[in-house]
Amino acid sequence: MGRPVAGGPGPRAWVLRLLLGLAAWRGGAAGRSAVCSCCPGPVRNGSSVASYCAARPALELQGRCCLSREPEPGVIVGLDLGNCSLTFLCAGFPDANTAVVIDLTENPLGNIPNTSFQGFTRLQSISLPRALECPGGNMAWDLNTTHGDSRTCQGQRNLCNSSGELAWLCPENSQCSPDGPGLVQCLCSGSYHGYKCLREGTFPLLLFYGTLGAVTTTLSLLAWGSQRRKAKAS
Ligand SMILES: *[C@@H]1O[C@H](CO)[C@@H](O)[C@H](O)[C@H]1NC(C)=O
Ligand SMILES: *[C@@H]1O[C@H](CO)[C@@H](O)[C@H](O)[C@H]1NC(C)=O
Ligand SMILES: *[C@@H]1O[C@H](CO)[C@@H](O)[C@H](O)[C@H]1NC(C)=O
Ligand SMILES: *[C@@H]1O[C@H](CO)[C@@H](O)[C@H](O)[C@H]1NC(C)=O
Ligand SMILES: *[C@@H]1O[C@H](CO)[C@@H](O)[C@H](O)[C@H]1NC(C)=O
Repeated sequence: MGRPVAGGPGPRAWVLRLLLGLAAWRGGAAGRSAVCSCCPGPVRNGSSVASYCAARPALELQGRCCLSREPEPGVIVGLDLGNCSLTFLCAGFPDANTAVVIDLTENPLGNIPNTSFQGFTRLQSISLPRALECPGGNMAWDLNTTHGDSRTCQGQRNLCNSSGELAWLCPENSQCSPDGPGLVQCLCSGSYHGYKCLREGTFPLLLFYGTLGAVTTTLSLLAWGSQRRKAKAS
């Protein structure tokens, strides 16, 4: 609900990134992604992904992923990258932003940046090497349990609607919307759009082009400014 189509913020979304200053162009979600083969072999029998997938007939295993058969075929629902010798997450990791269950145990992973999980709004269970913290911190989860060498974080909290209330950070004419563990974004309401949702009216252009335009304008202004300074100095 309220979430923009995977692939990038919607045209009317003025996006507040709590932990990320720059708007990153997010990779598309669906499809048989390379992330399912970023590590050889199938989903490990004992992993949380295997049990989750086995318990649901509408799901099937493919490589390291558990994919939905219907209603949206090929959407990643589970991802087991356990025992993959990973020191950091694979490049295709953002493709798994539809995942409900993720297993990253038995990897020599260093700290994972919180922003790696941006857009992972459906994630309900993630298992990690014990030394790592839950993504987004304790606040972002209902449960944080350890077992052997692994830690499992369960029940992603909606920070727009919890005791921590991040909703106040969103400007007028916008609504707070979850954007992954510990992350929220502000979506402009109704016909409002633009920076801090201050503009009203229809907005046919994609945010992408808007951003490009803004960058071009800024560069032109900078160039103009330095020309002027040079002109004055001489
Ligand atoms: C994993 O599960 C498959 C299918 O259920 C089975 O054929 C295989 O023997 C199992 N492997 C291990 C190591 O338990
Ligand atoms: C991890 O993978 C290696 C091979 O890559 C295998 O020999 C080992 O048994 C695996 N360990 C576990 C706990 O599955
Ligand atoms: C992730 O977010 C938590 C909670 O906001 C914070 O304590 C932690 O330092 C962050 N970690 C990184 C790597 O940014
Ligand atoms: C989880 O629990 C451990 C102790 O069991 C604690 O050190 C850690 O800060 C907790 N929070 C997260 C986000 O891992
Ligand atoms: C928000 O909080 C209220 C009251 O605590 C609860 O009834 C409601 O289900 C929550 N909504 C979501 C989306 O978590």
